[in-house]
Amino acid sequence: MISVASLALVFVGWTGMVASHEFRAEERNRMVDEIVAISRSVPETEHREFATRVLEAMRRVPRHEFVPAEQKHAAYRNRPLPIGDGQTISQPYIVALMTDLLNLEPGHKVLEIGTGCGYQAAVLAELAAKVYTIEIVDALARTARGTLQRLGIDVETRSGDGYKGWPEAAPFDAIVVTAAPDHIPPALVQQLKPGGRLVIPVGTKLQSLVVVSKNPDGTTITEDIVPVRFVPFTRETE
Ligand SMILES: C[S@@+](CC[C@H](N)C(=O)[O-])C[C@H]1O[C@@H](n2cnc3c(N)ncnc32)[C@H](O)[C@@H]1O
Repeated sequence: MISVASLALVFVGWTGMVASHEFRAEERNRMVDEIVAISRSVPETEHREFATRVLEAMRRVPRHEFVPAEQKHAAYRNRPLPIGDGQTISQPYIVALMTDLLNLEPGHKVLEIGTGCGYQAAVLAELAAKVYTIEIVDALARTARGTLQRLGIDVETRSGDGYKGWPEAAPFDAIVVTAAPDHIPPALVQQLKPGGRLVIPVGTKLQSLVVVSKNPDGTTITEDIVPVRFVPFTRETE
Protein backbone atom coordinates (compact mmCIF):
# COMPACT_ATOMS: atom_id res chain seq x y z
CA MET A 1 0.00 0.00 0.00
CA ILE A 2 1.29 3.53 -0.82
CA SER A 3 1.50 5.66 2.31
CA VAL A 4 0.30 9.28 2.51
CA ALA A 5 3.95 10.36 2.90
CA SER A 6 5.10 8.61 -0.29
CA LEU A 7 2.06 9.95 -2.19
CA ALA A 8 3.08 13.45 -1.10
CA LEU A 9 6.64 12.78 -2.34
CA VAL A 10 5.40 11.57 -5.73
CA PHE A 11 3.22 14.68 -6.00
CA VAL A 12 6.05 17.04 -5.04
CA GLY A 13 8.36 15.33 -7.57
CA TRP A 14 5.74 15.67 -10.32
CA THR A 15 5.05 19.36 -9.72
CA GLY A 16 8.81 19.98 -9.59
CA MET A 17 9.23 18.46 -13.06
CA VAL A 18 6.38 20.54 -14.45
CA ALA A 19 7.86 23.65 -12.87
CA SER A 20 11.31 23.08 -14.43
CA HIS A 21 9.76 23.13 -17.94
CA GLU A 22 7.27 25.93 -17.35
CA PHE A 23 9.15 28.19 -14.94
CA ARG A 24 10.02 31.58 -16.50
CA ALA A 25 8.72 30.42 -19.91
CA GLU A 26 7.24 33.85 -20.61
CA GLU A 27 10.62 35.50 -20.02
CA ARG A 28 12.25 32.96 -22.36
CA ASN A 29 9.67 33.73 -25.04
CA ARG A 30 10.34 37.45 -24.71
CA MET A 31 14.11 36.79 -24.93
CA VAL A 32 13.60 34.81 -28.16
CA ASP A 33 11.33 37.51 -29.61
CA GLU A 34 14.11 40.00 -28.93
CA ILE A 35 16.66 37.72 -30.65
CA VAL A 36 14.41 37.56 -33.73
CA ALA A 37 14.00 41.35 -33.76
CA ILE A 38 17.78 41.86 -33.52
CA SER A 39 18.49 39.29 -36.24
CA ARG A 40 16.21 41.24 -38.60
CA SER A 41 17.79 44.60 -37.80
CA VAL A 42 21.55 43.87 -37.61
CA PRO A 43 23.03 45.67 -40.62
CA GLU A 44 26.44 43.92 -40.71
CA THR A 45 25.15 40.45 -41.42
CA GLU A 46 23.12 38.84 -44.14
CA HIS A 47 22.16 36.17 -41.63
CA ARG A 48 18.70 37.40 -40.70
CA GLU A 49 16.39 34.38 -40.42
CA PHE A 50 17.16 31.84 -37.71
CA ALA A 51 15.83 28.29 -38.13
CA THR A 52 12.61 27.73 -36.21
CA ARG A 53 14.08 24.69 -34.45
CA VAL A 54 16.95 26.80 -33.09
CA LEU A 55 14.53 29.39 -31.70
CA GLU A 56 12.30 26.64 -30.25
CA ALA A 57 15.34 25.08 -28.52
CA MET A 58 16.10 28.45 -26.93
CA ARG A 59 12.49 28.73 -25.75
CA ARG A 60 12.95 25.39 -23.94
CA VAL A 61 16.40 25.58 -22.28
CA PRO A 62 16.14 27.18 -18.80
CA ARG A 63 19.01 29.73 -18.92
CA HIS A 64 18.37 30.66 -15.28
CA GLU A 65 19.55 27.17 -14.23
CA PHE A 66 23.02 27.85 -15.67
CA VAL A 67 23.86 31.18 -14.02
CA PRO A 68 25.02 31.84 -10.44
CA ALA A 69 22.36 32.69 -7.83
CA GLU A 70 23.16 36.42 -7.89
CA GLN A 71 22.56 36.57 -11.68
CA LYS A 72 19.30 34.59 -11.81
CA HIS A 73 17.15 37.73 -11.92
CA ALA A 74 18.99 38.80 -15.12
CA ALA A 75 19.03 35.36 -16.77
CA TYR A 76 16.65 36.31 -19.61
CA ARG A 77 18.20 39.64 -20.49
CA ASN A 78 19.86 39.58 -23.88
CA ARG A 79 23.36 40.06 -22.58
CA PRO A 80 26.37 38.08 -21.35
CA LEU A 81 26.55 37.53 -17.58
CA PRO A 82 29.46 36.67 -15.25
CA ILE A 83 29.67 32.99 -14.28
CA GLY A 84 32.79 33.16 -12.09
CA ASP A 85 36.53 32.61 -12.77
CA GLY A 86 36.51 35.75 -14.98
CA GLN A 87 34.29 34.01 -17.55
CA THR A 88 30.82 34.69 -18.97
CA ILE A 89 27.73 32.99 -20.28
CA SER A 90 27.38 34.27 -23.87
CA GLN A 91 24.72 36.76 -24.96
CA PRO A 92 21.58 34.80 -26.02
CA TYR A 93 21.56 36.45 -29.48
CA ILE A 94 25.14 35.22 -30.07
CA VAL A 95 24.24 31.69 -28.86
CA ALA A 96 21.34 31.67 -31.35
CA LEU A 97 23.51 33.03 -34.19
CA MET A 98 26.36 30.56 -33.64
CA THR A 99 23.99 27.63 -33.20
CA ASP A 100 22.08 28.56 -36.34
CA LEU A 101 25.30 28.88 -38.37
CA LEU A 102 26.13 25.25 -37.51
CA ASN A 103 23.14 24.01 -39.63
CA LEU A 104 22.50 21.18 -37.17
CA GLU A 105 20.39 18.17 -38.03
CA PRO A 106 18.89 15.70 -35.51
CA GLY A 107 21.47 12.95 -36.24
CA HIS A 108 24.52 15.21 -35.95
CA LYS A 109 27.53 14.86 -33.65
CA VAL A 110 28.77 18.22 -32.34
CA LEU A 111 31.84 19.44 -30.46
CA GLU A 112 31.87 22.64 -28.41
CA ILE A 113 35.13 24.20 -27.17
CA GLY A 114 34.44 26.45 -24.15
CA THR A 115 31.69 24.87 -22.05
CA GLY A 116 31.55 27.76 -19.58
CA CYS A 117 28.39 27.08 -17.57
CA GLY A 118 27.01 24.54 -20.08
CA TYR A 119 24.17 26.65 -21.49
CA GLN A 120 25.08 26.47 -25.17
CA ALA A 121 25.85 22.76 -24.82
CA ALA A 122 22.29 22.32 -23.53
CA VAL A 123 20.91 24.22 -26.55
CA LEU A 124 23.03 22.03 -28.88
CA ALA A 125 21.74 18.89 -27.13
CA GLU A 126 18.18 19.92 -28.09
CA LEU A 127 19.18 19.94 -31.76
CA ALA A 128 21.75 17.17 -32.32
CA ALA A 129 22.14 13.48 -31.48
CA LYS A 130 25.39 13.75 -29.51
CA VAL A 131 27.21 16.70 -27.94
CA TYR A 132 30.81 16.81 -26.66
CA THR A 133 32.14 19.86 -24.81
CA ILE A 134 35.55 20.84 -23.41
CA GLU A 135 36.28 23.53 -20.80
CA ILE A 136 39.78 24.64 -19.76
CA VAL A 137 38.81 26.00 -16.31
CA ASP A 138 38.34 22.89 -14.19
CA ALA A 139 35.99 24.53 -11.65
CA LEU A 140 33.66 25.66 -14.47
CA ALA A 141 33.82 22.24 -16.15
CA ARG A 142 32.78 20.56 -12.89
CA THR A 143 29.92 22.98 -12.22
CA ALA A 144 28.65 22.66 -15.80
CA ARG A 145 28.77 18.86 -15.61
CA GLY A 146 26.74 18.98 -12.40
CA THR A 147 24.13 21.34 -13.89
CA LEU A 148 23.73 19.28 -17.06
CA GLN A 149 23.37 16.06 -15.04
CA ARG A 150 20.87 17.64 -12.62
CA LEU A 151 18.73 18.75 -15.58
CA GLY A 152 19.01 15.32 -17.24
CA ILE A 153 20.76 16.72 -20.34
CA ASP A 154 22.95 14.19 -22.12
CA VAL A 155 26.31 15.88 -22.93
CA GLU A 156 29.84 14.41 -22.78
CA THR A 157 32.02 16.85 -20.81
CA ARG A 158 35.78 17.09 -20.50
CA SER A 159 38.09 19.36 -18.54
CA GLY A 160 41.14 20.58 -20.48
CA ASP A 161 42.51 22.62 -23.38
CA GLY A 162 40.29 22.26 -26.45
CA TYR A 163 42.99 23.40 -28.92
CA LYS A 164 43.53 19.82 -30.09
CA GLY A 165 39.81 19.00 -30.18
CA TRP A 166 38.51 15.58 -29.08
CA PRO A 167 40.30 13.14 -31.45
CA GLU A 168 38.74 9.97 -29.97
CA ALA A 169 35.22 11.21 -30.74
CA ALA A 170 36.04 12.78 -34.15
CA PRO A 171 34.94 13.34 -36.87
CA PHE A 172 32.19 15.87 -36.09
CA ASP A 173 29.39 17.26 -38.23
CA ALA A 174 29.82 20.62 -36.51
CA ILE A 175 32.25 22.34 -34.14
CA VAL A 176 31.62 25.57 -32.24
CA VAL A 177 34.23 27.54 -30.31
CA THR A 178 33.06 30.07 -27.71
CA ALA A 179 36.38 31.80 -26.93
CA ALA A 180 38.54 33.68 -29.44
CA PRO A 181 41.96 32.31 -30.53
CA ASP A 182 44.27 34.40 -32.73
CA HIS A 183 44.17 31.68 -35.41
CA ILE A 184 41.96 28.73 -36.28
CA PRO A 185 43.26 25.60 -34.48
CA PRO A 186 44.22 23.19 -37.32
CA ALA A 187 43.04 20.10 -35.37
CA LEU A 188 39.49 21.45 -35.32
CA VAL A 189 39.41 21.70 -39.12
CA GLN A 190 40.91 18.20 -39.37
CA GLN A 191 38.20 16.83 -37.03
CA LEU A 192 35.34 18.15 -39.20
CA LYS A 193 33.53 15.68 -41.46
CA PRO A 194 33.31 16.52 -45.17
CA GLY A 195 30.25 18.78 -45.36
CA GLY A 196 30.83 19.87 -41.75
CA ARG A 197 30.98 23.41 -40.36
CA LEU A 198 33.21 25.10 -37.79
CA VAL A 199 31.90 28.32 -36.20
CA ILE A 200 34.61 30.26 -34.36
CA PRO A 201 35.43 33.82 -33.28
CA VAL A 202 38.97 34.68 -34.45
CA GLY A 203 41.20 37.60 -33.48
CA THR A 204 42.61 39.47 -30.51
CA LYS A 205 41.43 43.10 -30.28
CA LEU A 206 39.36 42.97 -33.45
CA GLN A 207 37.52 39.68 -33.71
CA SER A 208 35.38 38.23 -36.46
CA LEU A 209 32.90 35.37 -36.24
CA VAL A 210 34.09 32.93 -38.91
CA VAL A 211 32.46 29.90 -40.52
CA VAL A 212 34.74 27.26 -42.03
CA SER A 213 32.87 24.82 -44.30
CA LYS A 214 34.59 21.60 -45.34
CA ASN A 215 33.85 20.46 -48.90
CA PRO A 216 33.42 16.76 -49.82
CA ASP A 217 37.00 16.76 -51.24
CA GLY A 218 38.42 18.04 -47.93
CA THR A 219 39.09 21.62 -49.10
CA THR A 220 37.60 24.42 -47.02
CA ILE A 221 35.79 27.72 -47.55
CA THR A 222 36.11 30.44 -44.89
CA GLU A 223 33.52 33.21 -44.47
CA ASP A 224 33.55 36.20 -42.12
CA ILE A 225 30.07 36.68 -40.67
CA VAL A 226 30.08 39.58 -38.21
CA PRO A 227 32.45 41.47 -35.84
CA VAL A 228 32.23 40.04 -32.29
CA ARG A 229 33.83 40.32 -28.85
CA PHE A 230 34.61 37.06 -27.01
CA VAL A 231 36.81 36.15 -24.05
CA PRO A 232 40.30 35.02 -25.15
CA PHE A 233 41.03 31.40 -26.02
CA THR A 234 43.64 30.37 -23.45
CA ARG A 235 46.14 27.53 -23.61
CA GLU A 236 47.08 25.00 -20.94
CA THR A 237 50.77 26.01 -21.11
CA GLU A 238 50.01 29.70 -20.29
C1 LIG B 1 32.10 32.79 -23.42
S1 LIG B 1 32.57 31.53 -22.33
C2 LIG B 1 31.50 30.17 -22.58
C3 LIG B 1 30.15 30.36 -23.02
C4 LIG B 1 29.32 29.13 -22.92
N1 LIG B 1 29.56 28.21 -24.01
C5 LIG B 1 27.86 29.48 -22.80
O1 LIG B 1 27.06 28.60 -22.94
O2 LIG B 1 27.51 30.61 -22.57
C6 LIG B 1 34.02 30.84 -23.10
C7 LIG B 1 34.64 29.69 -22.34
O3 LIG B 1 35.75 29.19 -23.10
C8 LIG B 1 36.68 28.69 -22.17
N2 LIG B 1 37.96 28.48 -22.85
C9 LIG B 1 38.90 29.41 -23.20
N3 LIG B 1 39.94 28.81 -23.80
C10 LIG B 1 39.67 27.48 -23.86
C11 LIG B 1 40.37 26.33 -24.34
N4 LIG B 1 41.60 26.41 -24.90
N5 LIG B 1 39.78 25.11 -24.24
C12 LIG B 1 38.56 24.98 -23.65
N6 LIG B 1 37.86 26.03 -23.14
C13 LIG B 1 38.40 27.26 -23.25
C14 LIG B 1 36.69 29.76 -21.09
O4 LIG B 1 37.25 29.28 -19.89
C15 LIG B 1 35.19 30.07 -20.98
O5 LIG B 1 34.56 29.33 -19.97
